[in-house]
This record gives sequence, structure tokens and C-alpha cells, in this order.
Amino acid sequence: MNSILVTGGAGFIGSNFIRHAFEKSGFKGRLVNLDKLTYAGNPENLADMARACKGRYVFVKGDICDFKLAGRLFKKYKFDAVVHFAAESHVDRSIFGPKDFVETNIHGTFALLEAARSAWTGRKDVRFHHVSTDEVYGSLGPKGKFKETTPYDPRSPYSASKASADHLVRAYRHTYGLPVTISNCSNNYGPYQFPEKLIPLVILNAMEGKPLPVYGDGKNVRDWLYVEDHCAAIWRILAKGRPGETYNVGGDCEMKNIDVVRSVCAALEELLPSPENPALRGRNYENLITFVKDRPGHDRRYAIDFSKLRRRLGWRPSVDFAGGILRTVRWYLDNPGWIKNVRTGAYRKWLKRNYS
Ligand code: NAD
Ligand code: DAU
Repeated sequence: MNSILVTGGAGFIGSNFIRHAFEKSGFKGRLVNLDKLTYAGNPENLADMARACKGRYVFVKGDICDFKLAGRLFKKYKFDAVVHFAAESHVDRSIFGPKDFVETNIHGTFALLEAARSAWTGRKDVRFHHVSTDEVYGSLGPKGKFKETTPYDPRSPYSASKASADHLVRAYRHTYGLPVTISNCSNNYGPYQFPEKLIPLVILNAMEGKPLPVYGDGKNVRDWLYVEDHCAAIWRILAKGRPGETYNVGGDCEMKNIDVVRSVCAALEELLPSPENPALRGRNYENLITFVKDRPGHDRRYAIDFSKLRRRLGWRPSVDFAGGILRTVRWYLDNPGWIKNVRTGAYRKWLKRNYS
């Protein structure tokens, strides 16, 4: 691969992926990051990469729904791979405002597929990788795991929009022969995650002595994967995966939400003991746990069988939850400037100065 288009590279997983590509994968070519910089996109996540990889890293502020822009970028940079992360990604937001999810996740994916089809006619030495979610498979009872063959049963506007995008990607394979791959991954956590998702929200609230909101009875189950492992899996699929294939990605780490929140509290007790944190005013972190109204249509359990990826491409997670959560909590403790900018929206001013 000489020229890669990454979409949504200023977000959580996309920025970790770009870091992985430049620092760990051995990639020597050029990488273009196309990102609209919504509330979730933050070029500060990659400011050091942009400096270190000058000439090889190009940032383009733009919307994936913009057909003309996508076409121009394919023409100018002659991509031989696309790694498509850009999406509206937060389930709660999709419940209260689904429109942007339909626009970006469905129409945006369609625009990119069209640009790739037109630029790559007849080529087999190229790849379009779509980064998708395990939520397309629906919700599990107490037993069983999602396999690549599990029928789709999306239940939130977010997962329905991602399922639609997956179907479009497969349709472009079957109809036009576009060399595509799809990965369906479980919940990621790690550095640079926007503090609306459970783990960073709980870390930041706990640091500040605020309530830790747990939806419903706290017994909904998710599978957790450290973000760097997800990035390594995507790179492996890009390099070795077979066109037309789907790969599940997971952490072998099913946990109830309440146990995830307790683990964050325990990691904080280790790294910043509650008696030493003035925001706690004599309480400990677990005292902050507060059960709140449940998410509408809250999926009960996700669990993912990633044996195909392990068997065929030799990938497995390398970071366990205990180690990953310590690394994650430490990263947030070590980066108060990032937190302040994200919380106050100060990075938007920085954006305006640098990218408008
Ligand atoms: P994120 O919300 O942190 O980042 C999304 C990025 O996409 C942001 O930089 C945003 O500015 C950009 N973006 C949004 N709309 C855009 C548009 N119209 N044009 C261009 N850029 C746009 O998301 P994330 O958590 O990093 O997730 C990345 C991808 O991985 C998504 O496709 C998501 O569905 C998928 N995924 C996420 C998880 C998870 O646990 N976070 C798990 C499995 C799959
Ligand atoms: O499974 C993969 C998906 O994981 C990705 O496709 C999504 O982009 C990503 O956002 C994530 O979706 P979830 O809804 O599982 O993540 P979230 O962090 O929002 O919530 C995790 C669990 O915690 C879920 O059961 C809801 C619960 N929760 C969440 C928040 C924000 C709480 O109990 N309290 C909260 O405040």
C-alpha cells in the first residue's frame, strides 16, 4: 500500500489507527485523513503525528457525503486502500437525533463506495475496508456469541445505520466486484475516547467527584477491547484479509456494566487514591455510582466469536482488561489539557485558527 485514505481519522479509533499505521505497522507511504471535524473529531489527537510525518500525513477537512470531494481526492492521491471509520458513533445520540446517523453512516458510505468504484474500475490490487460494529447482530440472551453468519437484527438507529452501510459495502462487492472487507468489532476503550462513552465518562466524572451514571440495573453485558488491539486487527485484515470477507473482532472480555464501572473505580483508587483527591470530599469512588433511567431499547448482551480472525489471520487481543483499564485511566490522568479542551470546546477555537 502506497496511498491510504482514512475517513474519520480525527476521532477516537481513527486517530489511534493512524498512530498505529505510522508508528507500528511499517507503512512507508502517504496517508490522507478525511474528517468533517464534528464534535467528536479533534485534530489535536494527531498534532504530534502531523509534525513527525510531515509530507506523508495529509489532513483534509471535509464531509464523506460530498461525492465531488471524494472523487477529487481519489484522483489527486491515487489511493490503493480506504479505511472507513467516519461515522456518527454514539447510540444515545442516535436515539435522540437519528438524522445525522442516516446521513453520515449510510449516505456517506454510499458516496465513498461510488468514488472507489469509479476510480478503481477493474482493479484487484486495491481494498475498501469498512469498520463496523457488533451491534448490527442485535441483542443476545444469556448464552451464545455473534458469529460472522449471525443474521442481522439492528435495534437502535445507530446500529440500523451501520447495518445499512454493511449491506451497501457487500452489495458493491457482489454487483461490481469491488475488493471490500468488513470488520464487526465490540466495545473499544483507551486513549483519546470522547467522554460521552461509558468508560471515559466514568473516569472523568469520578476524577471530578461527580455521579457515575449506570443505566437500568447495570447488568447489561458488553465485550471490551483495548483500542490498539482493534487497530492491529484492522491492519492485519487490510494486509492479509480476503476480499469479500467479514471478520468479527473482540476482546474475549464480557463484563456487566456495573463491573466495568467498579473496575474504573478500582484503577482510580490505585492511581489517585480517593483520600488524596479533594473533589471526593471524604467519599470513595464507588460511593459515586448512581443508577439512572435505562437507555430506551437497551440491548442486553453482546458477545463476539472472533475465532475466524484468529484462525485465518493469526490475530488475538494482546491487552487484558485489567492492564488496559489501568493504561486508560493513567492516560486521562496524565492529559488534563486534552480533557479541558474537549470539555470546554476550546479545541474548536484551535480548529478555527488552523483549519478554516
Ligand atoms: P468517533 O465518534 O470517536 O469518531 C468519528 C469521527 O468521524 C470523528 O472524527 C468525526 O469528526 C468524523 N465524522 C463524523 N461524521 C463525518 C462525516 N460526515 N464526514 C467526515 N467525517 C465525519 O467514533 P469512534 O468511536 O472512533 O468509531 C469509529 C468507527 O468505528 C465508527 O464507524 C464506529 O461505528 C466504529 N466502531 C466503534 C466502536 C467503539 O467502541 N467506539 C466499536 C466498533 C466499531
Ligand atoms: O459494541 C460496539 C459499540 O460500542 C460501538 O459500535 C459504538 O460506536 C460504541 O459507542 C459502543 O456502543 P455502546 O452503546 O455499547 O457504548 P456506550 O459506551 O455508550 O455504553 C456502554 C454500555 O454502558 C451500554 O450498555 C450503556 C451503558 N451506559 C452508557 C453510558 C454512556 C451506562 O450505563 N451509563 C452511561 O452513562
